[in-house]
Amino acid sequence: MVFIGRTCMVNIREAVLGDNDNLIKLQKKCPMGTDLQIELDGSPDFFNRSKAYEDWHILVAEDNDKIVGSAGYAVKDVVINERVEKTGYEYGFMVDPDHRRKGIASALQLEVEEQCVSKGVEFLHLNITEGNVPSMTLFTKLGFIEIRDCIPIMLMAYKHNKVDEYKIRRMKEGDIPVVISLMNKTYSNHNFYEPFTERSFREYYARMPFYDINDIFLYEDGDSVRAVAGYWDYNKVMKFTLKSLNNRWKLMSFLVKILSVISTMPKMPGKGEQMSNWYLTPFAYRDDNAAKQLLGYILNLALESDVNMITLPLDANDPIVQVLDAFRGNKGQFKWFVKPLGTKKIPGLSRNPLYIDVIDI
Ligand SMILES: CC(C)(COP(=O)(O)OP(=O)(O)OC[C@H]1O[C@@H](n2cnc3c(N)ncnc32)[C@H](O)[C@@H]1OP(=O)(O)O)[C@@H](O)C(=O)NCCC(=O)NCCS
Repeated sequence: MVFIGRTCMVNIREAVLGDNDNLIKLQKKCPMGTDLQIELDGSPDFFNRSKAYEDWHILVAEDNDKIVGSAGYAVKDVVINERVEKTGYEYGFMVDPDHRRKGIASALQLEVEEQCVSKGVEFLHLNITEGNVPSMTLFTKLGFIEIRDCIPIMLMAYKHNKVDEYKIRRMKEGDIPVVISLMNKTYSNHNFYEPFTERSFREYYARMPFYDINDIFLYEDGDSVRAVAGYWDYNKVMKFTLKSLNNRWKLMSFLVKILSVISTMPKMPGKGEQMSNWYLTPFAYRDDNAAKQLLGYILNLALESDVNMITLPLDANDPIVQVLDAFRGNKGQFKWFVKPLGTKKIPGLSRNPLYIDVIDI
């Protein structure tokens, strides 16, 4: 039992499978964002999102046996400034609108911190979408520090791209070592990346619900693998529906409508419509052209499958951004926050880019 000042008393416990329906209901009541609001719907299995992690926990806050809040965290080892650090990634904070400003999110955070300290976690981190003032205020008050601007790049699948199809093939079992070495090389200077081993690569993709290892493609020139790219059909894990639009979105939709009279343009989902999305993972390359060829190829597959976009979250300073800029897309904005637990100070992160794991978004 946790007592939280002002107006109410909540009980915080680990979620169990029987909480599934109530968590889905709560999720629908708690769209993300302020002016641009997106409803998340993890049905039929709320826990699918978490299953991509090896060590994950969902907490619920109950008021008189009714779930009024929830939060999740996942513990993982990552490399920061060339040292392996145990981190806790926090996600899925939500509080029933009828129970906000009573300290419930703060109480959930306290419990996450206690559990993470007992697991030896040194740093907590989380992402907050630009404009989510309640969350920014909440987590800053709770000791998180904003360290980097990040952008989810959403490439629109709206026209066929010409690609060298004869150089593209599906990955086979035997390609895994080459793919791992490409991944580890591409992200070798990124903070928050943990280099893959053959085993961890297999386990990582096996954990992701609905991920099909056959959806990984290679671009080959002669005997040399120049790039690797795969997609994760995230629509099966989470449905995103636009609940309200901001002025920027409305203006873009208007411009797209006008331009589509003279040229093929991407479709902008409207209010109440679902945005269908594939995440790009893995993605690594030796040369830009090979990477663009594979991106074009996967966008063609998305178009054939009626999927609006493929998304890759990146540090705004990551040179990979330039490769994706060759395609038409939208850029969102979110901020990366860190809080140290224990005695270590927040690492002075060099300008080296952050690696953003798609399962965190
Ligand atoms: C963000 C959210 C989880 C906060 O839950 P909550 O239980 O209301 O938060 P708390 O009561 O613990 O708030 C603690 C402090 O955070 C800040 N805060 C919380 N909501 C705020 C708001 N709407 N505007 C400004 N500051 C806010 C305040 O400083 C508050 O202290 P105060 O009430 O004494 O002023 C809740 O608004 C929510 O579910 N939002 C929708 C989903 C979402 O965006 N999740 C976060 C994803 S990162």
